[in-house]
Amino acid sequence: MQPDWILQDAFGLWKEKFGDFEDIKANGPSSVGLDFTLYGFENVYGLPEHADVHSLKDTGENEAYRLYNLDVFGYSVYDKMGTYGSVPLLLAHKPSYTCGIFWLNASETLVEIHSKAALQVSVMDWDSRQKAVPKMDVRWMSESGIVDVFLLLGPMPQNVFNQYAQLTGTQMLPPLFSLGYHQCRWNYEDEADVEAVDSGFDEHSIPYDVIWLDIEHTDGKRYFTWDPDRFPDPVKMQEKLREKRRKLVVISDPHIKVDPNYTLYAEAKEKGYFVKDREIGNFEGTCWPGLSSYIDFTNPAAREWYSSQFSLDKYKSSTDVLYVWNDMNEPSVFDAPEMTMPKDAVHHQGWEHRDLHNLYGFYQQMSTSDGLIQRSGGKERPFVLTRSFFAGSQRYGAVWTGDNKAEWEYLKISVPMLLSLSVTGIAFCGADVGGFVGDPDLELLVRWYQAGAFQPFFRGHAMQDTKRREPWLFGEENTLLIRKAIHERYTLLPYWYLLFYRAYRTAEPVMRPLWVEFPKCQDAFAVASQYMLGNALLVAPVLDSGVKSIEVLFPGNGECWYDFRKYTRVKGSHRQKVAVTVAEIPVFQRGGSIIPMHTTVGKSTGWMACTPYELHVALDRKGFAAGELYVDDGHSLQYLHEHMYSHRRFTFSRNVLSSSSADKEGHHTVNCFLEKVYIIGLKKSPSEVTAHDCGGKKTVEFTYNSQLCLLSLENLSLQVCADWEIHIV
Ligand code: GLC
Repeated sequence: MQPDWILQDAFGLWKEKFGDFEDIKANGPSSVGLDFTLYGFENVYGLPEHADVHSLKDTGENEAYRLYNLDVFGYSVYDKMGTYGSVPLLLAHKPSYTCGIFWLNASETLVEIHSKAALQVSVMDWDSRQKAVPKMDVRWMSESGIVDVFLLLGPMPQNVFNQYAQLTGTQMLPPLFSLGYHQCRWNYEDEADVEAVDSGFDEHSIPYDVIWLDIEHTDGKRYFTWDPDRFPDPVKMQEKLREKRRKLVVISDPHIKVDPNYTLYAEAKEKGYFVKDREIGNFEGTCWPGLSSYIDFTNPAAREWYSSQFSLDKYKSSTDVLYVWNDMNEPSVFDAPEMTMPKDAVHHQGWEHRDLHNLYGFYQQMSTSDGLIQRSGGKERPFVLTRSFFAGSQRYGAVWTGDNKAEWEYLKISVPMLLSLSVTGIAFCGADVGGFVGDPDLELLVRWYQAGAFQPFFRGHAMQDTKRREPWLFGEENTLLIRKAIHERYTLLPYWYLLFYRAYRTAEPVMRPLWVEFPKCQDAFAVASQYMLGNALLVAPVLDSGVKSIEVLFPGNGECWYDFRKYTRVKGSHRQKVAVTVAEIPVFQRGGSIIPMHTTVGKSTGWMACTPYELHVALDRKGFAAGELYVDDGHSLQYLHEHMYSHRRFTFSRNVLSSSSADKEGHHTVNCFLEKVYIIGLKKSPSEVTAHDCGGKKTVEFTYNSQLCLLSLENLSLQVCADWEIHIV
């Protein structure tokens, strides 16, 4: 018999060193793994978060996609390293079938992917001739825990989304304001700065909904406090924002400054709510405030306590227009291995950090989101942005892709990154517009606004040492272009809101890779430079400098596509060059769809509750189109508890556009009007158009453009949530 320590050393499994840090693996070395072979598949997706392509690559020899939540400032692009969050869900797709593998393990996980060339692998046909099929081998390995794996059998992409949502939940329906534009910077310096930026938006007629305060707003990085010199009267500042029908978001990180005079620290310490080190003292590491301890969000009592900190009486000078940003929650620990919490730190009930690392940020967002709901007595929707996340984070708010750089490559990678998040349930996602690190050139900044306006979470953000970046600082012409992009976002809010409602109800991603909408169109399987917003809009952002045209794939077979702004029908081939100007990025409406929009924009979503609507009806080859609208009060939970919503269906068939209820349970009434309808692709001019509602029949003014085959109806004054018909004779 050899003594234990010799065996341990011989295999080198009992100890690992990372710089000065030694992981003694107190519970012994462990790992779990499983291999899967996916026959007939050549495309797999998911596994966020990696700054990589959408259709995942063969990982090659000795490499793997790593799922280990880390603070990776200015991460490299086209890389398999782990970044801020992890969703261990892989989707596989081929024309006839979609399936998923959900590997429920929150410890450090590696996923190897190997695609085999078609001829290397064979299966026997019935007649015993050999038939070659492609296959993908997927190997999952996790450092600890058990094998807990769910096979999601599809067979269509939407079935996989539903199956996954049954396990992890759907996207929380966000408050409407959070779908508007967010203006952030590290840092808006003081109350005067906030006021000046806020007024700047009005002076330049740019709508926005939320201004954000980063870490410097606090008293020495003590969250839930205010710097008394820079922010002497936070309530007044918030009240001014409220008058403008706007919101404030402040940052609240999980590290708590070690300071016995800081109530939050003292209380958490006394109650035993910090993560422990292996000697069972409080774990201490360095982050923004200097030496800090970390709330143990895996402890339900600690979560409840943290939630209660957001109540208006506890959180001094907070009001109900204040919402929250959870950052650094991988968690980031500056002076620890890989800048995160050592794996031997100890959580509630003795779990090692190793076992649950990837869940830490998930629990912070859960607790924050609960806190905001509780603050309102269970009445209002929360809004919480998180940097770190795990499977199911969609239930608590939004996710962004962390510290990207102000470079074209990062604009480009934002699209596949957001698509990977979207197909793994996290519909409310975005990237820092303009790039966080560094100063973007003006063309990049404008292109980023144009792209960001068509991504779910739309926030401009910049690092401390960058030049100021408010949209009006770059000359008339650029202000105009950015204004146009943000305006377009606001006119499309009814469609965005519908897509989020559908994501919440039916687990459909808001931003969709082409393969989801066109599962048989093989040319589309690896495309990540363009995507669908819902089922109706094809978005092709401009991702390179100085281009005069971009190549666009018009997916599907027998589809009609129309330029979203000019209403022209796309002619020509399946894949073609589309001219671009500085003014906008190419967007196309799919024939057969109806998109609800607002006719004008206000200063923020709060000013747009009664803004009139218009419908963009794009006909398919058979002269048919359908679409929906979802309306509720935009902020409360009454849609959930009291069915206070209105979900409408619009159909255009046999030259009649009709509005009917899509959900009889909803009973929200709004006094909002449909004023305009554009019918795109109508072959001939009508002789008469009439509208029919409960008030009877009336004749409608119209114009017909025979070149565009466009019928425009104006001054309709039809209740948007009522039953009506428009007859085109
Ligand atoms: C992190 C965040 C960034 C934030 C900064 C200061 O780098 O990713 O968004 O501005 O911390 O809080």
